[in-house]
Amino acid sequence: MASLKEEISRRRTFAIISHPDAGKTTLTEKFLLYGGAIAQAGAVKGKKNSRAAVSDWMEIEKQRGISVTSSVMQFQYEGFCINILDTPGHQDFSEDTYRTLMAADSAVMVIDGSKGVEAQTRKLFKVCAMRHIPIFTFINKMDREARDTFELLDDIEKELGIATCPVNWPIGSGKAFKGVYDRAKKEVELFSDTKKGTAMGEVQMVPIDAPETEKLIGADAKKILADEIELLDGASAEFDQELVDKGQLSPVFFGSALTNFGVETFLKHFLKMTTSPLPRMSDKGEIDPMEEKDFSAFVFKIQANMNKAHRDRIAFMRICSGEFEAGMNVYHVQGGKEIRLSQPQQMMASERKMITKAYGGDIIGVFDPGIFSIGDTLTTSKEKFAYEGIPTFAPEHFARVRQVDTMKRKQFVKGINQIAQEGAIQIFQEYNTGMEEIIVGVVGVLQFDVLKYRLNNEYNVEIRLENLPYEYIRWIENEDVDMDHLSGTSDMKKIKDLKDRPLLLFAHEWSIRMTEERNKGLILSEFGRS
Ligand code: G4P
Repeated sequence: MASLKEEISRRRTFAIISHPDAGKTTLTEKFLLYGGAIAQAGAVKGKKNSRAAVSDWMEIEKQRGISVTSSVMQFQYEGFCINILDTPGHQDFSEDTYRTLMAADSAVMVIDGSKGVEAQTRKLFKVCAMRHIPIFTFINKMDREARDTFELLDDIEKELGIATCPVNWPIGSGKAFKGVYDRAKKEVELFSDTKKGTAMGEVQMVPIDAPETEKLIGADAKKILADEIELLDGASAEFDQELVDKGQLSPVFFGSALTNFGVETFLKHFLKMTTSPLPRMSDKGEIDPMEEKDFSAFVFKIQANMNKAHRDRIAFMRICSGEFEAGMNVYHVQGGKEIRLSQPQQMMASERKMITKAYGGDIIGVFDPGIFSIGDTLTTSKEKFAYEGIPTFAPEHFARVRQVDTMKRKQFVKGINQIAQEGAIQIFQEYNTGMEEIIVGVVGVLQFDVLKYRLNNEYNVEIRLENLPYEYIRWIENEDVDMDHLSGTSDMKKIKDLKDRPLLLFAHEWSIRMTEERNKGLILSEFGRS
């Protein structure tokens, strides 16, 4: 029997971040194939579903009783126990996507080689950077015409502000793609696209100096490679594990997820370079999973059941220390009482399965009778503590909510508050008026539909949403700001949250800077304290 320490130290819990279509689903699927978790390609959860129209999405939600977007996938590979956190990408991009990153110890950033850094990658990267977790880069689709490699790296460094260190280097791209050059081993991994749907890709390595290499990749490609490597050795950062650990240097790999090329090489390196479950900050100081024996976890996501007959919810928690056993009693710190964690489950591709045991680093979903909030701590430790809260992330779409039948005020307030507690939407009020006018903010527009649908279905309340032209929200960090004399821009709106904290909405990004300049000392933040 492995000890608790051994169980935890073999865990690797990470999120894959990318812009839609960069190949996240394809890469995840290949990882699962290597782990033997699925038998064939094409088995991973609703890639197509997530692109479905809104009405279909509602149907899917209802049928499954759980979001198609809520997967955490666990598999074993070479002694490691791997938890992949899915960060939903298409229309279902939401605040949950950001919050999921709070449960990860590192991130894999998938970039389309023909596109470089794209909008959604940038947003997700910011959250990872805020946490200083290690970030690994997989530049995908090298079997298609890609941008110049130096340009791609430059793009990452300039756009994201992280140094890069290529572990391997592509030899051509598209039709001329010959493989990748391993800089440490000085070997070429030859490209083969014959293993598309299979579990094992083909790994064929030849030393760069071997006589046959020139024949295999072509004299021109070999010459270009030699020139590029010389340039690279002179210019790029050296690999430094310490900088990787701090999230200041991203190891970069090239490959093609679709053809299963470079995926296992990446997985092997990544597992060696990434971290086991990290310590987390609490109000009692840092809790290190390697030292703390008691169970502790925090809730990072709450999933409502879309089935009207069952208004229960599932709370997803990240176990930070100790061992979890089904049915165990734990102390719910924010609720101030002991509770039993029942019906624990884990996600595997599209299925949920019941589990009996889990360890620090793992993610579990438990039945929530409506008592949990995002950020809550659970623990069996005698010395109670609470993990640092999860920040509130900036919504990008805002709408004023109008109730069609004003007689149903009570249901409306109850419903909207409960949905906000789950973290699907954020609610605000006009700065100078009372509760009458409610403004909702969402990260992804689909949440507007979810709100409407759920209020109607679960609370029997009909609403109309009137879109507002704002796209940026900023929390005011200063404790004592004189809101009445704040000198803003014409596209700025003052609002407050339910705790009466003032916030600002802007239609244009440049107005944020201008407002900061006009009000010396004003500190505006993209992340709200919970
Ligand atoms: P996502 O989860 O990041 O949104 O991306 P996904 O894996 O769904 O991939 C998006 C599209 O890119 C898919 O094509 C997929 O087959 C393709 N793709 C992924 N990796 C590679 C790669 O390494 N090389 C090439 N050439 N294509 C790749 P699709 O036509 O949209 O979907 P499908 O019909 O193939 O499933």
